[in-house]
Amino acid sequence: MEAVGKNKASAPQVIVCEDGAEVARRAAERFIEIAHEATNANGKFSVALAGGSTPKKLYELLASDEYRDQIEWPKVHIFFGDERCVPPDDAESNYRMANEAMLARVPVPPQNVHRMVGDGDAVANARLYEDELRGYFDEEQWPRFDLVLLGMGDDGHTASLFPGSQALQETSAWATANWVEKFQTFRITLSAPAINHAAHVLFLITGAGKAARLPEVINGERDTNRLPSQLIQPQAAGGNLEWLIDKDAAANL
Ligand code: 6PG
Repeated sequence: MEAVGKNKASAPQVIVCEDGAEVARRAAERFIEIAHEATNANGKFSVALAGGSTPKKLYELLASDEYRDQIEWPKVHIFFGDERCVPPDDAESNYRMANEAMLARVPVPPQNVHRMVGDGDAVANARLYEDELRGYFDEEQWPRFDLVLLGMGDDGHTASLFPGSQALQETSAWATANWVEKFQTFRITLSAPAINHAAHVLFLITGAGKAARLPEVINGERDTNRLPSQLIQPQAAGGNLEWLIDKDAAANL
């Protein structure tokens, strides 16, 4: 199954939006476009959701009366880019945020929601998720998500690929348990190569806190250990990279 949009790689598109509401709206429109492309081509659409706070507005929009019925939810497969090592009902859980903002409010079949198990043994949970991914992307050398949604932290991390962390060196696993020194905890995350084989990767970045790192990530010297978001280059495998950034985060671009 060829992920849609492949071999149409173009230079990364950077779109500066007025505010978080415009970022969410544009992201919703791209989500729907890519979902239509994928379901028309392959009869299904695979998307890895981002955690954190920025994408919440997008998820709420996709579940709203304005957008919900533009998506064929029974054909959507929901994955996660990363998860905190907490139970699914924990306030820190990326699954909980996505479930409350969207999944519980749309007719996506429960078996199509491929949750990253957070609580318990992180290494075992990462292996479990890799098995889940391999079950869906059957026989593929890499997962070929139709869309991966990402955020970026003030420190330039994305998913749970944090500066100086071990997972930045991962070249074969699709999912891994990554020790995050600054939080003194493990996180489960997709590896950079797993993200980089997606047909479309869409960064959603808002807030003045990102303004210092963003120009370094997008235009600066390559320094992936310090700026892990620079690892995200789906173009190399024929995918597309798009950045939706609000004016506050884009202040120094
Ligand atoms: C997480 C996310 C993380 C997030 C960035 C940006 O689990 O926290 O996956 O990578 O995308 O930290 O978060 P905000 O969008 O909340 O600024």
